[in-house]
Amino acid sequence: MLRTESAALGVEELSLVIDGAQILRDVTLGVATGELVAVIGPNGAGKTSLLNVVSGTLRATSGRVMLHEQDVTSAGPARRARLGLGRTFQTSYLFLGLTVLENVRLARQAKEQRFRGLWRAPGSSAAALGPIREHLARVGLDGVRHDLAGSLSHGDRRKLELALMLASESTIVLLDEPMAGVNSEDLPSLMELIRDVQRDTDATIVMVEHHIDVVMELAHRVAVMHHGSLLAFDTPANVVTNATVRDAYLGEPL
Ligand SMILES: Nc1ncnc2c1ncn2[C@@H]1O[C@H](COP(=O)(O)OP(=O)(O)OP(=O)(O)O)[C@@H](O)[C@H]1O
Ligand SMILES: [Mg+2]
Repeated sequence: MLRTESAALGVEELSLVIDGAQILRDVTLGVATGELVAVIGPNGAGKTSLLNVVSGTLRATSGRVMLHEQDVTSAGPARRARLGLGRTFQTSYLFLGLTVLENVRLARQAKEQRFRGLWRAPGSSAAALGPIREHLARVGLDGVRHDLAGSLSHGDRRKLELALMLASESTIVLLDEPMAGVNSEDLPSLMELIRDVQRDTDATIVMVEHHIDVVMELAHRVAVMHHGSLLAFDTPANVVTNATVRDAYLGEPL
């Protein structure tokens, strides 16, 4: 068995069965600190389910989940978040009726409350404004900080989600299709942003992504899922030439 204890994130022989359906089958992989791993695979392959089991919103049927060398298999999402895990969802989860700034402030306050306990008042909003505006500037949204999140383009909403991740100071970040719904002309800037954020923060990123050009450009390694199993876990160059992977996509170009 692959040892994943020294990885920032490890899953070992992970299986998930729901109502008799095998959603994940014996998945083992380790992601190193500062590594960006892309998860690809056909619709229904189990990519989102894998993120759900790692974040704790779904409990594995068997196997282990390790975060920063701690076994969190039986821990809930809150404890995993305290250990530095953050995630975005396949469908945007912003507060569309709040401003851009308010969205980031909430993420920041949620992070502070996780550490201080809910019984204390959230940290001084004035004190927190500096870092919040820095995060917004980082993703290019400081100029629209007073606009409602609901008025942003899809691309800018995805950027705002990255600002929330920055505000939460997560060290392990799960991104479920961060480019979904984004216009093709906005893809390069979003891709640059993810790369820069990853480099600057040295965060460990696991990103489900369908745009193969994005995967080839950004990922250090690619995990290929198929029918709940991990078909390959290798460099982008090796994955695209992997015969088993090609067969799984039935000859469709990756
Ligand atoms: N909570 C659940 N209950 C029952 N079945 C589920 C549940 N979550 C996922 N599934 C099933 O598990 C399989 C994998 O789903 P999952 O959403 O993980 O795939 P995916 O690879 O993320 O697909 P997509 O590319 O469409 O997002 C699908 O057949 C789905 O219907
Ligand atoms: Mg999915």
